[in-house]
Amino acid sequence: MNQKSWTIKELLKITADYLKEKQIDSPRLTAEILLAQQLQTNRISLYLNFDQPLTESEISGYRSFIRRRLAHEPVQYITGVQEFRSLEFIVNSHVLIPRPETELLVELAAGRLEKQTGPRNCPPMVLDLGTGSGAIAISLAKEFQEVLFWAVDISAEAIKIARLNAQKHGVLNKIEFLQGDLLKPLLDKGVSFDIILSNPPYIASHEYNDLPPEVRDYEPCISLDGGEDGMLFIEKIIMKAHNVMNPGGWLMLEMAPGQTEKAIMMAEKVSVYGKK
Ligand SMILES: C[S@@+](CC[C@H](N)C(=O)[O-])C[C@H]1O[C@@H](n2cnc3c(N)ncnc32)[C@H](O)[C@@H]1O
Repeated sequence: MNQKSWTIKELLKITADYLKEKQIDSPRLTAEILLAQQLQTNRISLYLNFDQPLTESEISGYRSFIRRRLAHEPVQYITGVQEFRSLEFIVNSHVLIPRPETELLVELAAGRLEKQTGPRNCPPMVLDLGTGSGAIAISLAKEFQEVLFWAVDISAEAIKIARLNAQKHGVLNKIEFLQGDLLKPLLDKGVSFDIILSNPPYIASHEYNDLPPEVRDYEPCISLDGGEDGMLFIEKIIMKAHNVMNPGGWLMLEMAPGQTEKAIMMAEKVSVYGKK
């Protein structure tokens, strides 16, 4: 007996219904993105080819993507990409999926850079601490050709992805990538910065288990866990940033709303009690 041959339209419909029943977010969009990925096309072409029948191997490849999503793997790790500031970034399970809220940090930095000139007419220097996929440094490097960037991450695997992304966006020669613990790899380099940016791990350890499974079970723990109250890295950065900061430099950190007051107190302590 001949097996039923599914068209794009039919397959999208039953898959979206199934994902909805299984309470997966944005079921129709997910069904479309993953089918477009399987067919190596874009979502618009799916609509333009609604009546196209699919081969058995296309359906079986699609089914395995759907199975991964049902196990709560984020769509971005299945497709291997995420958009950030209208640029496509390669992502895998070694890097955090760049978030829309981090675009705000980049926007604030871009606002500063528009007004900034480096000391003694040198190009402005920007540091991205905990670069992950490289989204922060790379999206700024694309916009500000004259600025020099350094990017640090403790994860060698993350640095590999960040370098791939820098290459993909033609800014590999604008960014110095270093693997190491926060500011440590910079201390013997004799560099200092006009802007230090970081989206550090800032989830409190006790909140970790309450994260959605997409985040908790798939995104790297070292990208998220910020210690007891989530402030471990924020504090380390605030306490030490001045060691690699140019006079008048800016430190810009992403954090949770409930962490800002503590962070401001820490920063005030550094300026009142001197820099160690
Ligand atoms: C929240 S993720 C941010 C990734 C990326 N900047 C973004 O905004 O999408 C934090 C990053 O800090 C890195 N990291 C964690 N501990 C670190 C440390 N001690 N020194 C340097 N990087 C660290 C992680 O590997 C991860 O890539």
